[in-house]
Amino acid sequence: MKQVVLDRYGSPEEGARCAEVPEVGAPAAGEVVFDVLAFPINPADISFCRGSYRLKPPLPATPGAEGIGRVTAVGAGVSHAKPGDLVINLQRENWTQTRRVKGDDVIAVPPGLALRQAAMLRINPPTALLLLTDVVDLKPGEWVIQNVANSAVGRLVIRLARARGLRTMNVVRRDTLFGELTALGADACAVDGPDLAETVKARTGGAPIRLGLDAVSGRATARLASCLSEGGVVCNYGSMSGEDPVMSRSALTSGGLTLVGFILGRALATRSLDQVRALYADLGARILTGELSAPVERVYPIEEIKAALTHAQRGERNGKILVAPNGPV
Ligand SMILES: NC(=O)c1ccc[n+]([C@@H]2O[C@H](COP(=O)([O-])OP(=O)(O)OC[C@H]3O[C@@H](n4cnc5c(N)ncnc54)[C@H](OP(=O)(O)O)[C@@H]3O)[C@@H](O)[C@H]2O)c1
Repeated sequence: MKQVVLDRYGSPEEGARCAEVPEVGAPAAGEVVFDVLAFPINPADISFCRGSYRLKPPLPATPGAEGIGRVTAVGAGVSHAKPGDLVINLQRENWTQTRRVKGDDVIAVPPGLALRQAAMLRINPPTALLLLTDVVDLKPGEWVIQNVANSAVGRLVIRLARARGLRTMNVVRRDTLFGELTALGADACAVDGPDLAETVKARTGGAPIRLGLDAVSGRATARLASCLSEGGVVCNYGSMSGEDPVMSRSALTSGGLTLVGFILGRALATRSLDQVRALYADLGARILTGELSAPVERVYPIEEIKAALTHAQRGERNGKILVAPNGPV
């Protein structure tokens, strides 16, 4: 079978290749085997390939934090998944044609889910939801500000915030995105820059903003912080700039702001397996109705992983880059 193998950390398209590897074999008791139908290339996967992610296993290694699979076989004692079920996998190494994992690591998703959207269910939808629920106890009518607002997470934040009665101030790198983000439910938009605080104040009518979601880091964190009301919280959950977050000392002291971090794994670890399954059932149902979605720019076959990785690193994409290891989806 085919699998993406990373031979060296550095440039992703140079370090990764599509390799022929042995089949995974039949499932033992308590195990599940599934074919990977599609997986996205996320910023964290790019960092993994570069060797700058928090996990840096010895090489060769197989990347891939998420994907959608179809179960082909289950071992004795597995009752919550059966052959034919669509499943997401809570474990990594998903850039491959077939996986064999512990039964408890897979979660069945609604059968009618569009495969491209299902491939992106595992990480970004719960991230967007928990960024809105776990950090600050926001009440309906309150504002939240976020950068990378046109990213998959950013678009999900817009939809989920609207569903909770929250208002979003959305910061992006170009004003040509304002129309589509507004159509999605954004209440206001701004282009990032040195005058961000004044622009935001004008577009929100000076309303207090208690939560800022930052996935750019570097000076962008300080600019986002400058838009918050006294005592507000900046939640850093990514670093598209590749830098560490910067906060001015006066924001922390005079402004009473707090800088916190979010990572999905830690947020899910505070929940039971039943709660995690319920979370994905809720998000899967919302994807099924079309309430939640993320645009896809292109789907590549696994043999073209190098081209897919190059494409995924381009700025100003109109959606995710997906890979379909077992034929078109
Ligand atoms: N902490 C967690 O648990 C967690 C979970 C999921 C995702 N994340 C993070 O969430 C962020 C978004 O992920 P995603 O999958 O939604 O991304 P995505 O859909 O692939 O979109 C990438 C976004 O990053 C922007 N961007 C790229 N380079 C940038 C730069 N140098 N400065 C500012 N913006 C830049 C792009 O803007 P343009 O369109 O202008 O190029 C685009 O909005 C990433 O940082 C990711 O690591 C964190």
